Amino acid sequence: MILYLKDVTEKRKMEAQLLHSGKLAAIGEMAAGIAHELNSPLTAILGNSQLLLRNKEKDDPSYPLLNDIKNCGDRCKRIIKSLLTFSRQDEYIFGSFSLNDGINQVLNLLRYQLEKNEIMITLKLDEDLPEIEGSQQQIEQIIINLILNARDALELADKTKKEITIITSQQEDEVQLIIKDNGIGIEDNRLSEIFHPFHTTKEAEKGTGLGLSVSFGIANAHGGTLEVSSTVKTGSTFTLRLPLPLSQELEVGG
Ligand SMILES: Nc1ncnc2c1ncn2[C@@H]1O[C@H](COP(=O)(O)OP(=O)(O)OP(=O)(O)O)[C@@H](O)[C@H]1O
Ligand SMILES: [Mg+2]
Repeated sequence: MILYLKDVTEKRKMEAQLLHSGKLAAIGEMAAGIAHELNSPLTAILGNSQLLLRNKEKDDPSYPLLNDIKNCGDRCKRIIKSLLTFSRQDEYIFGSFSLNDGINQVLNLLRYQLEKNEIMITLKLDEDLPEIEGSQQQIEQIIINLILNARDALELADKTKKEITIITSQQEDEVQLIIKDNGIGIEDNRLSEIFHPFHTTKEAEKGTGLGLSVSFGIANAHGGTLEVSSTVKTGSTFTLRLPLPLSQELEVGG
């Protein structure tokens, strides 16, 4: 008889942490409830404003007002989506995947936008990077957040060469992703604040201030960390670390 045993202690621990983080779970549940409640009235606001906009000329005095309603509706929708992710009530699938694939997937989506902003991407992906366990969709969301933040920081920077560098590597029992930009950077006294929900320096239409707090939550739920180092006017570096799975296959003969 051959018996295969897989140590799932770490996975269980992670799940427990995910489900029972006390206060946070309660807030998360409430947020999810509110988000669901808000979804249907929002559909009416967005749908109706779009319908009305369609029959208006751009120089109609009510056009900018309706447009405002639609834009604010869109913004609410984005916030709701982030809240659902934050409280982890939206669907996601756990599995094994390569972080490099996640990065390439995200770049397929964002490449055009980055080229439009004349941003140069340097990729240094470790080809032998082992797979990690988790939700590829959620990890991709972290990568999107970090790249879009870098783009925004570069847009405001006064640099002739705008660069984003993406590096993956294995460090002992974890994989590491570094996303580095030479944008405006972050003041020292704000470094701890940027991970707080709703902390943003962007205009209302541009940012909700949820990107990094959601990313931080996802990293933690995967047993990992998300850290920043930054110098004003020089640029910022975000480092995501995710643990490698502890799958010890034990063979017991008998
Ligand atoms: N790469 C970066 N360079 C400079 N500042 C940054 C960078 N990343 C984040 N920040 C600062 O941290 C703040 C919070 O970032 P976060 O991603 O949480 O929210 P946001 O980008 O403002 O809005 P959202 O991501 O919800 O659209 C930003 O408003 C910005 O001030
Ligand atoms: Mg952001």
